[in-house]
Amino acid sequence: MARKTRTKVLINNAFYDDLGEMWNEAENHPVSLLRAENRFRSPWIVETIQQRYNRPIDVVDLGCGGGFLTHALAEERHRVVGIDLSESSLTVARNNDPTKQVHYQKGDACNVDLPERSFDVVCATDILEHVERPELLISEAARLLRKGGLFFFHTFNRTPLSYLLIIKGVEWFVQNTPPRMHLYNLFIKPKELREICQSEGLVIEEMKGFSPKIMQLPLLKMLLTRKVPENFRFHFTSSLKTGYIGFASK
Ligand SMILES: C[S@@+](CC[C@H](N)C(=O)[O-])C[C@H]1O[C@@H](n2cnc3c(N)ncnc32)[C@H](O)[C@@H]1O
Repeated sequence: MARKTRTKVLINNAFYDDLGEMWNEAENHPVSLLRAENRFRSPWIVETIQQRYNRPIDVVDLGCGGGFLTHALAEERHRVVGIDLSESSLTVARNNDPTKQVHYQKGDACNVDLPERSFDVVCATDILEHVERPELLISEAARLLRKGGLFFFHTFNRTPLSYLLIIKGVEWFVQNTPPRMHLYNLFIKPKELREICQSEGLVIEEMKGFSPKIMQLPLLKMLLTRKVPENFRFHFTSSLKTGYIGFASK
């Protein structure tokens, strides 16, 4: 009898190609949670850059998707490049860029066609858990950064609570959640991220929890309707048990 071979379950990054204007409009899809995350974390990234540099700088956003962060950065007059594998997502980002100044480029965040040491800041929000080998992406970030540059990240811890909330919770409580949107084995423990950064010459300066606010009416509305209201709120926490955010310097 032929032996059964186990097929590896792969992360689903294909659905981003079909989102189109849903990037900006859908409430009945987890992309609405991504918009909510961006409403809270993009100002923090912008503000941290402002405090550190206080001048326009060169930024690349790896896995920029619909351009929520690239737009916020360009509005602060930074020179911004957005990289993504999804051509149609780049089109959405380009069409909605209020500054028309962001340079969007199709490419793999783990192998970027840009010169080394050409950026002051590299961002990787909600992408480290979407690639099979995050160490390659972080190595690229380190290569692209100038000395003293900052690497911003946001990803999910590999804990039972994350499995319950980020994978199962979203499947149960948000309509149209694509299959294999997140895979538990691709979630990253903070200690692992710290070690990878360290091995690439990046020293983590700040790391904090980032998750939905529990005490909010929009969360109740989401549980009842399986849609994410536009006033859904995230906040920073001290717990790294689910989502966490931070930055490292080179
Ligand atoms: C969860 S979305 C995050 C988008 C954006 N960073 C944000 O936070 O709004 C993940 C994005 O990563 C992109 N992506 C996945 N794998 C990639 C890769 N290897 N290189 C570049 N982009 C990738 C997808 O096309 C998608 O746009």
